[in-house]
Amino acid sequence: MLADKDRIFTNLYGFQPWNIGAAMKRGDWDNTKKLLEIGPDAIIDAIKASGLRGRGGAGFPTGMKWSFMPKEPRADRPNFLVINADESEPGSCKDREIIRHDPHKLIEGALVAGFAMRARAAYIYIRGEFIREAETLFAAVAEAYGKGFLGKNACGSGYDFDVFVHRGAGAYICGEETAMLESLEGKKGQPRLKPPFPAGAGLYGCPTTVNNVESIAVTPTILRRGAAWFSSIGNENNKGTKLFQISGHVNTPCVVEEAMGIPFRDLIEKHAGGIRGGWDNLLAVIPGGSSVPLVPAEQIMDAPMDFDGLKALGSGLGTAAVIVMDKSTDIVRAISRISHFYKHESCGQCTPCREGTGWMWRVMERLRTGDAEASEIDTLFQVTKQVEGHTICALGDAAAWPIQGLIRHFRPELERRIAERGRDEATPMQEAAE
Ligand code: NAI
Ligand code: SF4
Repeated sequence: MLADKDRIFTNLYGFQPWNIGAAMKRGDWDNTKKLLEIGPDAIIDAIKASGLRGRGGAGFPTGMKWSFMPKEPRADRPNFLVINADESEPGSCKDREIIRHDPHKLIEGALVAGFAMRARAAYIYIRGEFIREAETLFAAVAEAYGKGFLGKNACGSGYDFDVFVHRGAGAYICGEETAMLESLEGKKGQPRLKPPFPAGAGLYGCPTTVNNVESIAVTPTILRRGAAWFSSIGNENNKGTKLFQISGHVNTPCVVEEAMGIPFRDLIEKHAGGIRGGWDNLLAVIPGGSSVPLVPAEQIMDAPMDFDGLKALGSGLGTAAVIVMDKSTDIVRAISRISHFYKHESCGQCTPCREGTGWMWRVMERLRTGDAEASEIDTLFQVTKQVEGHTICALGDAAAWPIQGLIRHFRPELERRIAERGRDEATPMQEAAE
């Protein structure tokens, strides 16, 4: 488990002010010029050596992603950094906490990462609903300019770097990196086909890297404390600390920084006060935000909470948004609700997703009420396989996987409902949540 001295986010709960004076007392912006003096390539090497993997959900190695950027950008085709603060994954709320209480970690990280990638500027694309957080971010960026940490000769480094904050308008799909680029360009937020990846053709057709807020916010601390320190936390291939967002049927839901690979049971016992009603009352867990399949109680208990450990269980770490469901949960209703979310958020440009998400949700609703044929369970599974991997972006996969997880682990419950056709008595708690 993570020692207090190894925490990066020392103001996660906002016990101290977020402003630049307080942030500097916590160690942010401490001689940033010295961090830059080692040069862009050495910074990228350090991030590679740290083992940092992208914290937005996919876990792509961050240093490797940075190394895809041109080392000698053309004057008419500058490099850009885009920071994804469009946090919209159901269950996820970590980037919001960073921006609320520790925005200078993100802004200093933008400078360091942008410098490493020879970027001319960073755009922070923030979720439209994050109104107060956007206000904080605008104010924090202004503070950094005021101190000479951004703009011309940023931090006295001789390097010019700007940070722009751009507010989204509430579309989940704009969190997909290429839809985000379209949206930044003033177009409708619809994903682009990849390849080309953004490093080849990104914002305004220029080389671009899109990174998650948490990935960027940890980089100054990694450089200050050293790659070896970061990689000493966690386990092989899953290094460093991670913000876990624990919600649902635990006694004390929270956002907490922990070591990668912490066993699920320890995470919940230590930080979330245990499962409501005790461990015997646990039904299932969605360990990484709504896009990843659920894991039943008996499999998750001792699972390491990291990319590989959860992948081995047929699920994923995703954004580390841990949604805990106890035995009072109507699991079919919960997954049907997630299906409705993806149907609603599909941008509609590719057929398997546009048609498939609506189709899957309608079957899910019939399964929820028991008003389906038993054969439809297999048909639904086959349809999820037709959607998965056959769409422009990962939203199609994200719509398919939760249903696959449900069928894989809770088929008897689906069959029971069909056998008892028509019975769907919601608990008072579920009625209230509607
Ligand atoms: P992805 O695996 O396609 O890409 C991950 C990153 O690696 C991207 O930046 C991509 O450009 C880069 N990349 C991948 N292969 C590459 C290659 N061959 N060359 C160069 N760059 C390459 O995953 P994606 O679609 O970006 O993210 C999916 C994840 O996002 C899901 O697993 C989900 O957990 C998460 N997610 C997070 C949300 C949030 O609110 N934070 C919302 C929705 C999904
Ligand atoms: Fe749009 Fe869905 Fe296709 Fe993604 S998979 S591009 S959200 S229609």
